Amino acid sequence: MKTSKVEKNTWSLTLCFVLLSLITIFLPFCESFNYGQALSQTLLYFEAQRSGHLPHNQRVNWRHHSGLTDGLEQGVDLVGGYYDAGDNVKFGLPMAFTVTLLSWAAIEYGEEIAAAGEYVHAMEAIKWGTDYFIKAHTQPNVLWVEVGDGETDHYCWQRPEDMTTPRRAYKVDENNPGSEVAGETAAALAAASILFKKTNPHYSHLLLQHAQQLFEFGDKFKGKYDESVEVAKGYYTSVSGYMDELLWAAIWLYKATEKDEYLKYVLENANDFGGTTWAMTEFSWDVKYSGVQAIASMLLMEEKHKKHEVILKQYRSKAEHYFCACLNLNNASKDNVDRTPGGLLYIRQWNNMQYVANAAFLLAIYSDHLLATNQKLHCQKGEVGPNELLAFAKSQVDYILGSNPMGMSYLVGYGSNFPQRVHHRGASTESYKGNMGFIGCTQGYDNWYESPKPNPNILIGALVGGPDNKDQFRDERRNFEQLEACTYNTAALVGVFARLYNLE
Ligand SMILES: *[C@@H]1O[C@H](CO)[C@@H](O)[C@H](O)[C@H]1NC(C)=O
Repeated sequence: MKTSKVEKNTWSLTLCFVLLSLITIFLPFCESFNYGQALSQTLLYFEAQRSGHLPHNQRVNWRHHSGLTDGLEQGVDLVGGYYDAGDNVKFGLPMAFTVTLLSWAAIEYGEEIAAAGEYVHAMEAIKWGTDYFIKAHTQPNVLWVEVGDGETDHYCWQRPEDMTTPRRAYKVDENNPGSEVAGETAAALAAASILFKKTNPHYSHLLLQHAQQLFEFGDKFKGKYDESVEVAKGYYTSVSGYMDELLWAAIWLYKATEKDEYLKYVLENANDFGGTTWAMTEFSWDVKYSGVQAIASMLLMEEKHKKHEVILKQYRSKAEHYFCACLNLNNASKDNVDRTPGGLLYIRQWNNMQYVANAAFLLAIYSDHLLATNQKLHCQKGEVGPNELLAFAKSQVDYILGSNPMGMSYLVGYGSNFPQRVHHRGASTESYKGNMGFIGCTQGYDNWYESPKPNPNILIGALVGGPDNKDQFRDERRNFEQLEACTYNTAALVGVFARLYNLE
């Protein structure tokens, strides 16, 4: 049958109309984002989380010196480091993971970070952590891993500058081992040592020395850190155990030193430590298997590692499981990561954004690896190329910045609509600069925490816990599952923003 000209015109009109409607509906989803600005904001956030004596070039000036006697009771100088989230405790395990992520970002995307004018700030954020770890590692087999405790800290709502809560410090040692935290701190220091090799070889060497000792300590005296430091339990309980951190530390030490002993460790313990047996769907401060598996897969493509290809391929198949899970390309739905109706990866209710940011970071790195080695990702439901991995990482980041059903940026300070009531003691209380008077423990709860008003200080660059599995979000300070931000949420974004900035 012949189509008449009139019909054709009607058809094209209808098509036009449909397209226009689609454009209107999806316009908010086609926004382009300023990743360079977002990157700058992430690095401000680490200044807001600083503990200790703040330097003259501190840019976040609603903060002031705090925790200046940390460690004093125990006779050790533990001034410095980072508060991990909205409270004033310094937790060693997530702090170290934060520094590992930041260092990895600067290793992979140093040029992009520099092009955005942020390299110095990124290195400062890393060094604020590594300087602290050096202080905390007082003997080869002693590492101080926590200052303050969640229980008494949470009893008060106080700016860090006013803290009256106990600042007792806790350590792991030969009799009270802590392989997770020793391993993660070793990984952080090893990764950072790579960065300082050229600009500050002496410091780089020092970092590496501490990293090697900490790894040996964690490996020789094996034990769960939250059994030794019980105050960490319930806050940063290590569910996955320490074997992932030991593999993670070894593979970072291998990257930093190229010494065979570390590679040997990763290969020989691959099976017993779960490196080649665990198929994961999350990458987090607790679970590093997919990080180890991704790095091992990248080693496989180097000629000198061909002789280890049997084990490295086993690692790769588990890395692929993780990436395919994120892309919804494993056959069984239980092997894939859930998504919200708006398309956000969804692992669990409390601080879901950490998993999203961590996934986006790993996806970006792996996509660049596939691109550089001319490979594809092999999934049960098909093959995808590097561009698809990066595009998916971008979709997650764009959701974070505002392409979402709430039309909200979950990166505080970005855009015009972002969370106003971040669950954060310092940000929700008037600044020390504005009021140097003492604000007491429960006074903070009465006057600031309970207030329905927006926070007086904007915690720029914080990535909050984010929406629920229906993309819904309630901007209420007491809603800590959605409104608390953590250092490892933002740390993962540094690398992804840098990578996407390079697309602009
Ligand atoms: C996945 O599903 C495809 C298509 O149904 C099938 O050919 C393939 O064997 C499955 N793979 C696995 C590992 O189950």
